[in-house]
Amino acid sequence: MAVSPLQNGGGEARPVFRLVLATMADVDTNHFDQSAATWDKEPRRLELAEAVGKAILRQVRSTQQMDVLDYGCGTGLLGLFLLPRVRSVAGADSSPGMIRILEDKIRSGGLRGMRAMMLDLERDPVPESRYHLIAANMVAHHVERLDALLAAFHQMLRQGGFLAIADLDEEPGVFHGPEANGHVHHHGFDRRAFKDHLRRVGFVDVTDATAHVIRKPIVGGATRDFPVFLIVGRRV
Ligand SMILES: C[S@@+](CC[C@H](N)C(=O)[O-])C[C@H]1O[C@@H](n2cnc3c(N)ncnc32)[C@H](O)[C@@H]1O
Repeated sequence: MAVSPLQNGGGEARPVFRLVLATMADVDTNHFDQSAATWDKEPRRLELAEAVGKAILRQVRSTQQMDVLDYGCGTGLLGLFLLPRVRSVAGADSSPGMIRILEDKIRSGGLRGMRAMMLDLERDPVPESRYHLIAANMVAHHVERLDALLAAFHQMLRQGGFLAIADLDEEPGVFHGPEANGHVHHHGFDRRAFKDHLRRVGFVDVTDATAHVIRKPIVGGATRDFPVFLIVGRRV
């Protein structure tokens, strides 16, 4: 049996490597934990969430019977946009700092249909809850094992449910600044390849559209446009 250098024969990381893995996870988590308190102060993030929300509603008819998962929800911008149009939204994220901010919003706003939970589908078992729509805005490029994530999404959707993923088109690695080092696993995606990926996992009626274009300064002082796609697929 082939054994990964990070694993012993039983599939468990050895203690010394467990420490390395934990440290790697902390780097990732800390970046978002540290950004959480000021996340909503950047207007382009609010604009993006609204544009993606509107693009989703053009593809998926929302109803008051619909339960939604906003995965990699951050402070909940996308989920909160969708909330008045559906029955419930669960915001899930691997960053405790982000989840704390969303919990504060839920508490102070008395938002009965919204809840927040810690979840990392690269590491955690797939939860029991099932959804009519799973939306993920700007998360996929932070996830190393996309296969595992897409398979988990497929499992967590009800029959006929929709997956809506918004992310960057391929870019030359200039979207993120140096503070993001170590937690960006993809410099955007090729839409055709991403759609094929969804089909391989079992999604049908897979479409893509441009949901928004982010205009932001990059290292060196120039300003650049970054198109954001929305890819939607349906679980049969
Ligand atoms: C670029 S932010 C986007 C946040 C939010 N969707 C928005 O549009 O404002 C990426 C988010 O994904 C979360 N994230 C990164 N990797 C994750 C993973 N494996 N599982 C769950 N969340 C993850 C981060 O903690 C962060 O909140």
